[in-house]
Amino acid sequence: MNSAEKAIGVIGIGYVGLVTGTCLAELGHHVCCMDIDAMKISMLEKGETPIYEPGLPELLEKNRERMTFTTSLEEVFAACEIVFIAVDTPPTFTGDADLSRVFQVLSSLPGVSTGHHVLVMKSTVPVGTGTKISSELARQEAGDIDYVSNPEFLREGTAIDDFMHPDRIVIGSRNPEAGARVAALYEKLDAPVLETNVPTAEMIKYASNAFLATKISFINEIANVCEAVGADVTVVARGMGQDHRIGPYFLDAGIGFGGSCFPKDVAALKQIAGNSGYHFQLLTAVIEVNELQKRRVVNKLQKHLGALTDKTIALLGLAFKPNTDDLREASSIVLASRLMGDGANVKAYDPIALPNAARAVRGVLLCDDVLSAGEGSDAAVLVTEWDEFADLPLEKMKELMNHPLIIDGRNFLDPEKIRAAGFTYEGIGR
Ligand code: UGA
Repeated sequence: MNSAEKAIGVIGIGYVGLVTGTCLAELGHHVCCMDIDAMKISMLEKGETPIYEPGLPELLEKNRERMTFTTSLEEVFAACEIVFIAVDTPPTFTGDADLSRVFQVLSSLPGVSTGHHVLVMKSTVPVGTGTKISSELARQEAGDIDYVSNPEFLREGTAIDDFMHPDRIVIGSRNPEAGARVAALYEKLDAPVLETNVPTAEMIKYASNAFLATKISFINEIANVCEAVGADVTVVARGMGQDHRIGPYFLDAGIGFGGSCFPKDVAALKQIAGNSGYHFQLLTAVIEVNELQKRRVVNKLQKHLGALTDKTIALLGLAFKPNTDDLREASSIVLASRLMGDGANVKAYDPIALPNAARAVRGVLLCDDVLSAGEGSDAAVLVTEWDEFADLPLEKMKELMNHPLIIDGRNFLDPEKIRAAGFTYEGIGR
């Protein structure tokens, strides 16, 4: 390492922190990653990757020489001038973001931060948090610290590509010099940099996620109307998306959005608005439509099978989307408990998320492959559009299932092919 170039610190090595740290190393920076979870740090030191993210183990291995791992905050602040905070901010029961992990880091600063530091917030924090933190740091006399908001727009499953090819880099700061230093870390990337103040940067993150979630709930409602009037939502979405003002993305109808970001961020933005005296009506509807969407699958099953008591339903896919093992706020969890609540037996298979599933979907019989999930089932519901489901072993499934019914919760399968194999097929809005 060049003596003039200090390492970049990253505090919190979850999905966002680990991808950010590894990609910063790929851009040529030395990176010091810190987490309070000693087990995670020891895995990383041994060259193991604690989360599932395509391409991440290879990138970690490639950049090993530029990355160090520690559980010591002091070590990070001694080695690094620019320090990213990427701890998680889960929702509280009121829908507000829980900032306790952020404040835990801040409360340690007076003891560890000497000299000048730039604190860069990657975690999604409510609008106004940066201003609050800056005054708190000044009150604590925590040292010479600049605060910069640099929200992330990574998607699980494609996080590395999203980091390396961003649509934009948003930098919110009070001190433009500190903002420029953070922007310089990304200079090798070909992306516009939007420099603004801290609350605006914080709002860009929430507004982006809330808008994407709104697009999904909107197309889901269009799908529900399509079902009633005999239109095909997949073609409607294609036709809408060809209008460049609308764009083709995030118009896939299905059983609703999940994951650790959209549900939490939409609820938090609604709460931020409410706390400041504004009732965000549109977001209330976005959340409600998303809840109802998961339950519509139950109605579809009842339409074909009657009462679900003692029926066996196979869920194909449990993760909140493909290419991740993440089950946080996954539609599968709500669907499984709704089905069990109606007296059904639920079996499930997921190519990657099974190890996380035992705790998340208690009472569900976890199976090692599609055929064991299908065996003895009265219906199969495709919940996550994993590639492997594009080519289901239809003939064998038909033999093993009690009843040849497939509900395609992601409009992922070819209806003609499924019907030609002797199944009843139902998608969402087609
Ligand atoms: C989302 C955003 O896309 C990222 O830009 C953002 O950085 C991230 O949240 C975050 O705030 O950290 P992610 O939650 O990983 O990323 O996943 P998405 O690919 O956005 O999908 C979210 C959910 O929406 C999934 O359940 C997916 O199945 C669903 N979805 C997505 C649809 O139902 N229809 C669509 O057309 C697109």
